[in-house]
Amino acid sequence: IKKIGVFTSGGDAPGMNACIRAVVRTGIFLGKEVVGIYQGYQGMIDKKFINMDARSVRNIIQLGGTVLKTARCAEFRTPEGRATAYKNLKEEGIDALVAIGGDGTFTGAELLSREYDIPIIGIPGTIDNDLYGSDFTLGYDTATNTVLEAIDKIRDTAASHDRLFFIEVMGRDSGCIALHAGVAGGAEAILLPEKETAIDDLILKLEEGALSNKSSSIVIIAEGEKNGGAYNVAKRVKERFNFYDIKVTILGHLQRGGTPSSFDRVLACRLGYASVKALVAGESRKMVGLRGNLIQLTDIVESINNHSYKLEEDLLEMSAILSI
Ligand code: F6P
Repeated sequence: IKKIGVFTSGGDAPGMNACIRAVVRTGIFLGKEVVGIYQGYQGMIDKKFINMDARSVRNIIQLGGTVLKTARCAEFRTPEGRATAYKNLKEEGIDALVAIGGDGTFTGAELLSREYDIPIIGIPGTIDNDLYGSDFTLGYDTATNTVLEAIDKIRDTAASHDRLFFIEVMGRDSGCIALHAGVAGGAEAILLPEKETAIDDLILKLEEGALSNKSSSIVIIAEGEKNGGAYNVAKRVKERFNFYDIKVTILGHLQRGGTPSSFDRVLACRLGYASVKALVAGESRKMVGLRGNLIQLTDIVESINNHSYKLEEDLLEMSAILSI
């Protein structure tokens, strides 16, 4: 391997910059050239390459977002798009790739490496924490803390006005952010994609609270949950529940921004470093992840296909009990 291309793709996540920095500096330390590819797969197709040196990643470890920018690229999903991307990579002399992103990013990486035999290592970078082979993905810890901060603030106003709040959080079809922020924020109920919640049961829980002197409540709704989102749940609850005034807050994209937590920065450094070491050692089509506080490699196909059910049983059980 002479020249490593690094890119971020899909939804941005706090910690991506710290990870780019780690990839660039590890590559240079090991005597490789490193090229940044702007806007993920779109940049491969549009030839948006930039040579990186140790100084080109200075002062970015603390920044949210991604200095390499990111995109969701429809053209790369076609064989013609991938052929153009590979031709451009070859012309640029890029002979190995580090892909930072989620399952969409890995799906693209898997296809490219299979069709054109270019070594690729994936780094799990998504706030959703939904990749098999890593206990945590980059950005998940920061996003969960951002959500928690919002819950705490909403609790102040909910308690002051005696209100019931439905707060919708991101995660696509993963309930990790919702469950963790919900338990940490003392939510009265948490609705998750992985678990059906009947509206009748939710109303019963809220009524029990109201009858036992709770004067306000917070319900966390994961965006992928099956009752149709926070507004729908609030509407259905409102029809039959009249203990307190009801409000809805959708947290949205603020969950993706912000300075990465210490945990995410260290994870970014570890995974970025490990990805380059793996490429240099001859590995390909693997995802580097953290399992039991150890860096482990997982087959990239497995990491995509086993979209793991990561919710901890004890948290699921206690979330309802601790909020009686
Ligand atoms: O995958 C990260 C994520 O933030 C999901 O939680 C969310 O469903 C999605 O991306 C939103 O995507 P976009 O920014 O393209 O609207």
